[in-house]
Amino acid sequence: MNDQPTSMNRREVLGTLGTLGTLGAVAGMASIATIPGLANGAQNNLPTSPVPGAPSAVKWPFSPESMGFDAAKGVFSLPPLPYAPEALEPHIDKATMEIHHGRHHQAYVNGLNKALAEIAKLREPGADAAMHRHWMRELAFNAAGHANHVLFWNCMHAPKDKGGKGGGQPEGKLAEAITQSFGSFEAFSAQFRSTASTVEGNGWAWLVVNHAMGNRLMVMASERQQDLFAWGTTPILGVDVWEHAYYLKYQNKRADYVAAFMNVVNWSTVAAWHAMAAH
Ligand SMILES: [Fe+2]
Repeated sequence: MNDQPTSMNRREVLGTLGTLGTLGAVAGMASIATIPGLANGAQNNLPTSPVPGAPSAVKWPFSPESMGFDAAKGVFSLPPLPYAPEALEPHIDKATMEIHHGRHHQAYVNGLNKALAEIAKLREPGADAAMHRHWMRELAFNAAGHANHVLFWNCMHAPKDKGGKGGGQPEGKLAEAITQSFGSFEAFSAQFRSTASTVEGNGWAWLVVNHAMGNRLMVMASERQQDLFAWGTTPILGVDVWEHAYYLKYQNKRADYVAAFMNVVNWSTVAAWHAMAAH
């Protein structure tokens, strides 16, 4: 999916924001609605040219297409992996990828569609208002689960020593932003890996663009799919540290898995998302 020749333009970004506005707001991903320049009435005058600085070959991870959203039916489907399940070996094994994508991610998609359907029923006369809390929780958990995994699959690629794009370090404006925000790539990497290795229970570690801080980059963590995440930020890199993401190969050695993840990060894609989010 990373390498598909599909352009990303400002209208598509805004279409995504409209689609995900409700989902993101409750899923800790409300950050998507805060991309600078998009929340100030710009929706009424949309240019159709690509976002400045955004390579056209990389798609925004939260577009309806990337997220498998069928606007006519109002439901999501599981997008295919953007590479073969064995592509990330030896760092992330085929069996883990097949189970993670085909079973766990599918379950979040199913849960998201179920939550959307049940919430629609709550708008009907006589609905049990006490169920709002339950379905809001289900919506947040599953909407974040779906979005998180779409970003996760697409920020990885086969390692460079296997002919892919994974590993190494970012270049260009993303490299400059990382140095400006963290001091050095090494300092960022150490903070990111430590954060991922120490999330309590199941969760994620993120590299985010913080719009309120002038698009400074920050490392954040979330527990489960959605807890602890901050409003006003946009994730551009994420690593899943639920046990289902690594236990088959790494057992309890989560830090080893996180170190291996760094060998499959597709920094060119992350740089493109950074350009889209921080322009
Ligand atoms: Fe996962």
